[in-house]
Amino acid sequence: MHQQRAIVTGASGGIGEAITRSLASAGTTVVMVGRSARRLDEARARVLAAVPDADLRLELADLSLLTDVRGLAERLAREPAPDIVISNAAVIAELDDYTPEGIQRTLATNHLAPYLLLRSLIGPIGSRPARFVVVGASPQGLARTPVDLADLNCRAGRGLGALPSFRPFIAYARTKNMNTMFVYALARRLDGTRITVNGAHPGVIRDTGLGRDNRGALRLFGAVLNRLTPAPGTGADTPVWLATSEQVSDVTGGFFVRRERVPTAPHTTDAGRCDRLWDESARLVGLPPEP
Ligand SMILES: NC(=O)c1ccc[n+]([C@@H]2O[C@H](COP(=O)([O-])OP(=O)(O)OC[C@H]3O[C@@H](n4cnc5c(N)ncnc54)[C@H](OP(=O)(O)O)[C@@H]3O)[C@@H](O)[C@H]2O)c1
Repeated sequence: MHQQRAIVTGASGGIGEAITRSLASAGTTVVMVGRSARRLDEARARVLAAVPDADLRLELADLSLLTDVRGLAERLAREPAPDIVISNAAVIAELDDYTPEGIQRTLATNHLAPYLLLRSLIGPIGSRPARFVVVGASPQGLARTPVDLADLNCRAGRGLGALPSFRPFIAYARTKNMNTMFVYALARRLDGTRITVNGAHPGVIRDTGLGRDNRGALRLFGAVLNRLTPAPGTGADTPVWLATSEQVSDVTGGFFVRRERVPTAPHTTDAGRCDRLWDESARLVGLPPEP
């Protein structure tokens, strides 16, 4: 029988580690991608404690750097093609935190990295079947934070709100809307292939690293949420279901919450806006617009 192989980004903790554990317990080989060798090692040890026969591989890459994403894609292209790719890594960085490549870190990590990585894996996957899953966020919560297509880096700071501690969170929310727009734009471009792509909101989940650097009112808000919300295993459920269930083997171009396909805001479904984001992302990562 074909040994299923999955790539999971942001597997060094939180929901990505829970996704890894769930896939590994079903016998899937998991390539765990993270930026810290120590945190990846520790996550692997925790997964092995729960699933002693887990088949795990570690891939070190700082996904906020396009050079690292390109290197990762090149290494992965030399290995057996993945059956599953779950883009899960994300950060909430300060607005003035720019990478050495001149890109705001939240934009680079949360949107440009999956854009470049998934596009780069299409060729190596070829005519084989595969499922891409992009972990986004709550469509309801994101309805009020449309992407400013003229300013993906949020450099001008338009529409980020009055509360300074919340502004990085609004910029993060925009990148989560980009995840959804990317899913729709990529699904259209993958029409006629055997690769599906869907988005998922994991739910509001406690005990993850997201927002560990939050300040002010946002920190307080996070601390309260942390007491009320479910653990990372719950957050892994819908992404893993999209990646593995027979019920959705042919479904593509959808966004899911608790295993239900849900609508997302009109500013994320508008094909013209999705195509503008696609083209601008291609320019920023240095790829031609069409795959
Ligand atoms: N938690 C929630 O309530 C919630 C709600 C909605 C959506 N989500 C989404 O769920 C996903 C997982 O988030 P989480 O809550 O599990 O947060 P998390 O614990 O912080 O996990 C994020 C993962 O991404 C990795 N990562 C961050 N920057 C990276 C980089 N430059 N290169 C490589 N890896 C990097 C982190 O690695 P390090 O260990 O090195 O930091 C970590 O493994 C995200 O897409 C998030 O937007 C979460």
